[in-house]
Amino acid sequence: MWGGRFAAGPAAVMREINASLPFDKRLWRQDIAGSIAHANMLGAQGILSADEAATIIAGLEAIHAEYEAGDLPHDLDLEDIHMATESRLADKIGPVAGRLHTARSRNDQVATDFRLFVRDAMDEVDASLYLLQRALIDRAAEHADSVMPGFTHLQSAQPVTLGHHLMAYHEMIARDRSRFADARARINLSPLGAAALAGTGFPTDRHMTAAALGFDGPTRNSLDSVSDRDFALDYLMAATQCSLHLSRLAEEFVIWASQPFGFISLPDAYSTGSSIMPQKRNPDAAELVRGHAGRIVGCMTSLCVTMKGLPLAYSKDMQDDKPPLFEAHDLLGLSITAMTGMVETTLFRTDRMRALAESGFSTATDLADWLVREANVPFREAHHITGRVVKAAEQAGATLADLPLDTLQAIDPRIDARVHAVLTVDASVASRTSYGGTAPDQVRARIAEARAALDVE
Ligand code: ARG
Repeated sequence: MWGGRFAAGPAAVMREINASLPFDKRLWRQDIAGSIAHANMLGAQGILSADEAATIIAGLEAIHAEYEAGDLPHDLDLEDIHMATESRLADKIGPVAGRLHTARSRNDQVATDFRLFVRDAMDEVDASLYLLQRALIDRAAEHADSVMPGFTHLQSAQPVTLGHHLMAYHEMIARDRSRFADARARINLSPLGAAALAGTGFPTDRHMTAAALGFDGPTRNSLDSVSDRDFALDYLMAATQCSLHLSRLAEEFVIWASQPFGFISLPDAYSTGSSIMPQKRNPDAAELVRGHAGRIVGCMTSLCVTMKGLPLAYSKDMQDDKPPLFEAHDLLGLSITAMTGMVETTLFRTDRMRALAESGFSTATDLADWLVREANVPFREAHHITGRVVKAAEQAGATLADLPLDTLQAIDPRIDARVHAVLTVDASVASRTSYGGTAPDQVRARIAEARAALDVE
């Protein structure tokens, strides 16, 4: 394609280091769509004759069908999907194929293809995150009243409801979707027609190709158009944030599925056995979601470092933009789908959650608050009194709710029988009625809002 100036062919290793075809063939749909839009525009502008444009487009459509049928190019000498498709076009329609590249460069071509791919990737992620949100909401609604221990430092802190806990992840996923939506709004300008770096002298119509490819309009600066990979970084940064959220939920599933916790039983479909220990049921899918987050962070870091310090305009380093994006997109898709499946099908052992919430003195704050409210004790003093009560309960092997009144009164005579009403875990969660708190009615209100926002019943 560029041999005119060259006397000798490339070294074998040059062919290998230079070729992006092994990975960028994944852009074939976008590449053909971009070429068809370009050929149409060249025809409409009289840069090509109507016949030439029609011949080129028919050839590209035939190649589309071949690629679709699985006959993708693989010859490394063809370098990349752009050259491979152009060379196949020449095989099909002869020398007129050589007119397609008028007023275009691979630099704006690849920038266009990649934008189109990442735009679709954002839409795919959005659609699958929506399904995860729905799964979280459905399970949360089922468990708006199910009490479990809430933790800080992974120590029993205060009782919460499982519904509240699941809705916390719903909030994170909603923010993830909004990050992808922000990026989606920025990505939607077309670099096609920026040519190599400076624009072109041909009377092109960049608005026409932009519209044909579903862009809001053309990009405004030709140098920026061929150099910008922010859109891929936007994707990777949003993917990173999302994968961190998924990894936290995955980690909780791993912990909850462990025997000492026993909060959940993962279904067979998301577990594996051990080749040696017959009793095992391992949370491999959750562990891999946790693990994949690390790789996604790596992909994001990889492209950041590729782009750092690159002068304008295009440099070949930028060819390395695609593998990390593809890898992250595949890993994120798997992670979201696996996590959604686990959320949908996990058996929550609510009896076990409740028992642990009751055994961990998790209503101690409720006792301290009661002393403040009902006996006008300053909070610091109430904290101290409650600490002594917890110690007594620990020694007696009892829960706070089970401690006899005279034991409580021996610690502080201002405690009276009414206190028992606040020491149960149900009373504790029911009392957390502040906006966004864990009281079941609050959780149900937030679920209703979330359903309305997603437009589901
Ligand atoms: N395969 C190249 C890439 O992915 C296409 C652009 C080549 N441009 C160039 N000036 N060599 O970046």
